[in-house]
Amino acid sequence: MTDRTEVTALLDAGERLSREELRTLQLERLRASLRHAYENVGFYRESFDKAGVHPEDCRSLGDLARFPFTAKSDLRDRYPFGMFAVEQSRVRRIHASSGTTGRPTVVGYTDGDLDTWADVVARSIRAAGGRPGHKVHVAYGYGLFTGGLGAHYGAERLGCTVIPASGGMTARQVQLITDFRPEIIMVTPSYMLTLLDEFERQGVDPRSTSLEVGIFGAEPWTEEMRREIEERFAIDAVDIYGLSEVMGPGVAQECVETKDGLHIWEDHFYPEVVDPFTGEVLPDGEEGELVFTSLTKEAMPVIRYRTRDLTRLLPGTARVFRRMEKVTGRSDDMIILRGVNLFPTQIEEIVLRTPGVAPHFQLRLTREGRMDALTVRAEAREGATPERREAAAREIAAAVKDGIGVSVAVEVVAPETLERSVGKIKRIVDLRRTAAG
Ligand code: DLL
Repeated sequence: MTDRTEVTALLDAGERLSREELRTLQLERLRASLRHAYENVGFYRESFDKAGVHPEDCRSLGDLARFPFTAKSDLRDRYPFGMFAVEQSRVRRIHASSGTTGRPTVVGYTDGDLDTWADVVARSIRAAGGRPGHKVHVAYGYGLFTGGLGAHYGAERLGCTVIPASGGMTARQVQLITDFRPEIIMVTPSYMLTLLDEFERQGVDPRSTSLEVGIFGAEPWTEEMRREIEERFAIDAVDIYGLSEVMGPGVAQECVETKDGLHIWEDHFYPEVVDPFTGEVLPDGEEGELVFTSLTKEAMPVIRYRTRDLTRLLPGTARVFRRMEKVTGRSDDMIILRGVNLFPTQIEEIVLRTPGVAPHFQLRLTREGRMDALTVRAEAREGATPERREAAAREIAAAVKDGIGVSVAVEVVAPETLERSVGKIKRIVDLRRTAAG
């Protein structure tokens, strides 16, 4: 499945470009995208004018840095359709991301956009090892969320057989996988763990299924989680990244033959990494906030959209396109605990390394007097002795103190007590506002 010569023969035209050809194409598309945004979206006209820049000022890829950023709040403020660049009759589909507060962010797609999207997802599934004729079980949610339908049309485009399971009804998912025998599953990594429990509950060995590859995304997950899932299911686990504002799943994808970060489909989405505080563009290799400019989108072009996702850009390996490292987390999910910055992925790494605890954990924030406190609640593995549980709690606390530099409380709770994910998992439970003070 991962033979290099076979893979090369399957690459599409975009993936065969040289770095030089790619840059030429990017500049041409970037200039067209800036013009399209400026001419057809009031917001971009105003923001470019205010910054004193015009699409014609973009003569090199580096000139993009002169253009203003776009934030999620800019999209929310123009709810629902204020960022669209085409007449409503040309908008073939709407998606929306719920967000935790307030109005959803609405995005639109023309026929051309849906075509591009299916192409990049097909490319992603192929990079993951999927081939025409494979059966793809899609357990991302269908609906306004882009995961289900995005994966669906990409898998069809590649020539796969799609099983549109969507999220939820976990017992039935296990039955469908057992009976339909898909080679590929597309799902959030946290829901994959929920499926794992269900396989075991039904007495089906998760290593015995037909699954060969899992394409996991929509939330951050670590190398430790990759090892856990690969080991427990006997599959290859690869990362898919995307966000509704830029397209949906399929903005970047890890190749199964290298598993070394995600190739950004740079012929459609131009990445920059910026300092989250100053907005200054950082050189490749430095960690910061990922920013995207769409190069081919019609219904809703985005110019320098700030994702809030933290990562760094790396040179291409299995493909010509640059890679992004696995996302550390969103700046919004960063916990600042007594002055120390901490991401849920850092806790995930520690929990998954600790013997006797399952890959299920939750972070509970409380306030004690004027001080914030964090409790890591991790679930014991089935059969872990009380002594092992106690030792695990001590080991997790020590690893957090040594590795991250802050003291946390750790509770190792009984198996099957923490809430399971059916889609994107919510790691942080913030009880600070309801606590006294
Ligand atoms: O989550 C699109 C998607 C669906 C991607 C299915 C992959 C698979 P949104 O709901 O708009 O879109 O959420 C986008 O999710 O800014 C990241 O914070 C996070 N995210 C998505 N993929 C990854 C990933 C979809 N592979 C937000 N690793 C993004 C880490 C991810 N975070």
